[in-house]
Order: sequence, then C-alpha cells, then structure tokens
Amino acid sequence: MNYNRTVLLESDKVKIENYLEDLSIDFIRKEIITGLTLTDKYISSKFFYNETGSKLFETITHLTEYYPTRIERGILRKISPDFMSKFKNIDIIELGSGDCSKIKILLNSILPQNISSIRYIPIDISWSTLKKSAKELTILFPDLNIKGLVADFFSQLNIIPSENKRLFLFLGSTLGNFTENNIINFLSQLSSIMHTNDLFLLGIDLAKETSVLNQAYNDEKGITAQFNKNILNAINSIIGSDFNINNYKHQAFFNKKKSQIEMYLISTKDQIIRTPFHSKPIQIKKDESIHTENSYKFSINKIKQISAQTKLKINEIFFDKKKWFALILFSKKINSS
Ligand code: AVJ
Repeated sequence: MNYNRTVLLESDKVKIENYLEDLSIDFIRKEIITGLTLTDKYISSKFFYNETGSKLFETITHLTEYYPTRIERGILRKISPDFMSKFKNIDIIELGSGDCSKIKILLNSILPQNISSIRYIPIDISWSTLKKSAKELTILFPDLNIKGLVADFFSQLNIIPSENKRLFLFLGSTLGNFTENNIINFLSQLSSIMHTNDLFLLGIDLAKETSVLNQAYNDEKGITAQFNKNILNAINSIIGSDFNINNYKHQAFFNKKKSQIEMYLISTKDQIIRTPFHSKPIQIKKDESIHTENSYKFSINKIKQISAQTKLKINEIFFDKKKWFALILFSKKINSS
C-alpha cells in the first residue's frame, strides 16, 4: 500500500483520497456474478450508491413516508448542543457519510474557536458524494479540516487514522443493511480498533407498526422503486451486463418475524442476461426475484445483545418522542485491548 494515493481534490484544508482501488475490480465482479447465479439471486445493497443512486437516496430522505432521516436529524438537533460543545482536538469519523446534512448539525455546536482543531474524516464509497459534501462544508466552516476517504468502510476499517481522539459516527441505520453475522463482525472489528477514550455514536431504526414501515419503503411517488431498479444500471456498468430496468417490478415489505424490511426486484418476464465476465448467460424466469436489500429494525434488547458480544459499552441512548429511532453512544469497555 505504498504507491501514491490518487488525491482527488486538494486545498489547504481539504483532501480526498481514494482507497477503493485497493479492492480489486475482479473481486467485486466475482462477488456480483456469484450472487446472480445462485438459486436465490441477490445483489449487495452497497451497489445502490452510484451517482444516480446516491441522488435518488437523497430524494428518498425528503419523502413524507420515509421518516428515519427526518427523525434522526431531530434527535441530533436536540442532543447536539450538550454533546458537541465539549469537543476540541478530535477527529470525527463518519462511516457512510452520504450528504453532509447530519454532520452540519453536529458541527454547528462546536465552539467557533475550536472548529480549526477538528478534523472531519468522512468515508464513503461514492466519490461524487464526498466531493459535493466537502465543498458544501468548506463554505459553512472554512476553518474545518476535511480528509475524505473514498472506500468501502465495511472491509477497509484499517485505513482510519488513529493518532487523535476520535468520535465515530455511523448514522442513518445503515447497520441494518448488514446480516446478523456481519453486524457482530463489523462492530467487533470497530470496537477493537477503538481506543478507550474514543466514542462511537450509532443511529438505528427501531421496530414499529408494520404499516408505517411498509409505507416508508413503498412511497407514493415511486422514488424507492426507481432507487431499487437503478441498482441494475449500477451493476451493468460494473460487469458490462444488459439488465433492462423496465423488465422489473419493485417489491418491499416488512418481514415481522425477522424484523426487517426486505426489498426485491421481480422479473416481469423470462429473460437472459449476458456479461463478458461470465461464460454462461444468466437465466431469469418470469416472477423470479432478485434480493437487493434487508433493512433491519432494531430493538433495545438487540442493542444490549450486540454490546454483550462486542467490546462496546452503552453509555447513553437518545430517542425521539415516539421512540421510532435511537442514537446509541458507545465507548470501549475498559480492560479490553
Ligand atoms: C440507507 C440503508 C438506511 O435501509 O432505510 C431507503 C436505504 N432503502 N429506502 C434504509 C433505503 C430503501 C436505507 N439505508
């Protein structure tokens, strides 16, 4: 890892480095093709976020039906003055930063004279999103240091700087996209790279009435449907396949037993997909589904279980009035190295 990183944007205060090239494209292609050739076909939800997908997700966050972002921001606004005003000389690391709407709320509560002592390190798979939010933030906070990392934080936690005290942010209930095993794996890894004075703020969506959940993933304007179908365009550009998004229907529903929203693309006809990276054409039958996302809805008990299975200690839990969403503040359990 000692070749020159592509520095994608540089100024006095802002740098964006690309680590995605460390993940081999062959590996990514193989991962996609394996998922598409199983009996139960799936595409990993991380592939939603190409440029169009990131924009569509941002549109989703403004929909009336999609409550998580709005409610999480409300909690952030409420806790920010008390929580943030004490920080100086720290690195704020945001995993899957997306647009900068949440960090803006938090940075607003840093004392103005301390802003230049803060380094904001957003990590996102989308370069365009990182660049856009870095630009927006430098206008609002000209003294803020920004070091953006283009990376897949799930497999690249090792690239996170560790010389300063850190506040980790993992917001938006992105954790709910992981499988149960991956949740424990990932949080174990994160807790083992944490130092005892680091903090970790995790945003999670909570289980609630089925109709509210179903509406949040089946909006009237059909933006979630567009977002779901767009994953096929993203896949086409990675594996050179010929998916036609018009041959698929969006499906999303709350699986109460598993406490998760499940999202699928349903083929509206028999079709054959070709890619130069796989010798055999991929057959998809009419009504066959491709799984694209799980979005787990947590309970506080689940969080306690997670804490028991990792080195993460729960310091505090913040809710909205309806208890639809929670922000959990963790530190590292003492005596664990
Ligand atoms: C960004 C993963 C939190 O699961 O609610 C929104 C993605 N999918 N609508 C979620 C999403 C469909 C979102 N996360």
